[in-house]
Amino acid sequence: LLDDQRRDDGVDASLDPTDWEALRALGHRMVDEMLDALADVRSGPVWRPVPVEVQVRLRGPAPRVGMGAEAAYADFARDVLPYPLGNTHPRFWGWVMGAGTPVGMLAELLAAGFNPNVGGRDHVANHVEAQVLAWLKELLGYPAEASGLLVTGSSMANLIGLAVARTARAEIDVRRDGLAGLPRPMTLYTSAQVHSSVRRSVELLGLGREALRVIPCTPAFQIDLAALARSIAADRAAGCLPFCVVGSAGTVNTGAIDDLSALADLCAREGLWFHVDGAFGALAALSPALRPVLNGMERADSLGFDLHKWLSAPYDVGCILVRDEAAHRGAFAASESYLERFERGVGAGDRWYTDYGPELSRGFRALKLWLTLKTYGADAFGRQIAQNVAQARYLAGLVDAAPDLERLAPVPLNIVCFRFAGGNRDGDALDALNRELLMRLQEGGLAVLSSTTIGGRFALRAAIVNHRSRRADFDLLVAEVRRLGRDLLAESRRYFARGITEDAVFADGG
Ligand SMILES: Cc1ncc(COP(=O)(O)O)c(C=O)c1O
Repeated sequence: LLDDQRRDDGVDASLDPTDWEALRALGHRMVDEMLDALADVRSGPVWRPVPVEVQVRLRGPAPRVGMGAEAAYADFARDVLPYPLGNTHPRFWGWVMGAGTPVGMLAELLAAGFNPNVGGRDHVANHVEAQVLAWLKELLGYPAEASGLLVTGSSMANLIGLAVARTARAEIDVRRDGLAGLPRPMTLYTSAQVHSSVRRSVELLGLGREALRVIPCTPAFQIDLAALARSIAADRAAGCLPFCVVGSAGTVNTGAIDDLSALADLCAREGLWFHVDGAFGALAALSPALRPVLNGMERADSLGFDLHKWLSAPYDVGCILVRDEAAHRGAFAASESYLERFERGVGAGDRWYTDYGPELSRGFRALKLWLTLKTYGADAFGRQIAQNVAQARYLAGLVDAAPDLERLAPVPLNIVCFRFAGGNRDGDALDALNRELLMRLQEGGLAVLSSTTIGGRFALRAAIVNHRSRRADFDLLVAEVRRLGRDLLAESRRYFARGITEDAVFADGG
C-alpha cells in the first residue's frame, strides 16, 4: 500500500510506502532475482525477439490508478526481464557494448536512492565526481589540471569537445554572434573511419557537414597524414580557417588507432585544436602492454571516451576531458540570478558541473564509477581489456585457419571483421549470404555479432569489450558461423536448381 492512497482520508500523503517492511522485502527480492539473472546469464539465449503479445501489453494506456509495486514488478518480470538486448551475455559482441557488472548494478541502486542533482551546488556528489574525473585523468595520463564532465556517452563527449573547440577557436564571440558572424568558414578534419557522432556534432554545431573534411585512410585504416596536411594547406589557401583535427583512438569499424603523436605534432605546428575520440580505445591505456599504442592521446586538447564500454559500467556513462579549463567553461558557463553562487550554504561550491556542458540537472553517474573502481581496482580492468584484445587475436586466428572464412581487416585491438566466403560466390552474392547469415546467427540466440562495410564488402563484425567472454565462446561462434554458411550455400544451390538466383533469395531475407 502506498501512502498516496490514504489521501482520501483527508491526510497529506506522500509517495512513500505505508508499509516499509513490505517494500523492503520486495526490494530484496528484486535484488536477488536480478543477481540470479546475471549469475545465470550464460545459460540463456543471447537474444530473443519480443513476442507480439508482450508488445501489445507494452502499448497499453497510461495507468491512472496504480497497481502497487508488487504487481508492477510482476509485469517487469513477465514482460521485460526475459527479452534483453543481450549485452550482458558472454557471447554478445555486436556494435561496441559493455556487459555491466553486478557491482555497477548495486551502485545504480544507491545512486537512485541518494538521488542528488549533480548540476551544481555544494554537496558530496560533486566531490565524488571530481574524484572520479581525477582518477580518470591519472589513469589515462591526462594533465591533472584539465577539466572534465561525466556525460551520457561518447556521442555527447564528442559534441562537447567540438563545441569547446569551436568556441575557443572562432575569430568572433560565437556564443553571442553565432556562425553568421564568422569572417571566414571554419573547417575541421578527420578520417574516413570516424564515428558518425563526430559528423552529427558538426551538424548540430551549425558548422555544416561540408566543413568536416574527410581524409582518406592508409591500408591500416589510419588517417593519411600527408593527405591531411595537403587538405589543411588547400583550405588555408582558399581563405578558410582550419581549427580542429579529430583523431580516433579505436575506430568503430576495425579498432584502428590513428598515429596520435603525429597528429598532436601536426596540430601543434598548425595551431589546431586536437580532439581525440577514444570511445572504447582510450581505456586500453589501463593495460601497460597496450598503453604505447595510444602515445600522443595525452596531448589532446579534448578527449572523449566511454565508461559503459570497456569499464563495464552500466549504461550510460562517458566522459569528456578538456586540457584548458577556461576554454571548457568559456563554451558553457552562464550566470543567472536563480543560479547565484554563494560563499556558504547549499548554493556555494566552486565547481558547478553545469558550467562544463549543456545540461543543468544531472544524475549521479559518478557513483557507479567510484564504487566500481574502488571495488575492482583499475588494474583489473587493464587485465580485462588485455584479455579481450587477446581474445580478438584468438578469433582472428580461428578465422584465418578456416578455409571458408575470410578476414577483412587487420586486428590492431579488439575488433574482428570477417565473412563466410565458402562456395566461390561472387561479391554481391556473398554480401547477401552474409547478411542472411548474420540475422540467422542473432535469431538463433547463440551469439550476437553486428556488421559493417569494409572495402565495399559486407562484413560480420565482432567488437569484444565483454568481460564474461571466454575463449571457448569464440570456438562456438566460429563453428556456428561456418555451419550457417554451409546451410545457406546448400539452400542457395537448391534454389539455383529451380532457376532462382541466390541474390534474390537472400536479399529477400531467405
Ligand atoms: C569510436 C566511437 N565513437 C563514438 C561512439 C559513440 O559512443 P556512444 O554510443 O557512447 O554515444 C562509439 C560507439 O560505439 C564509437 O565506437
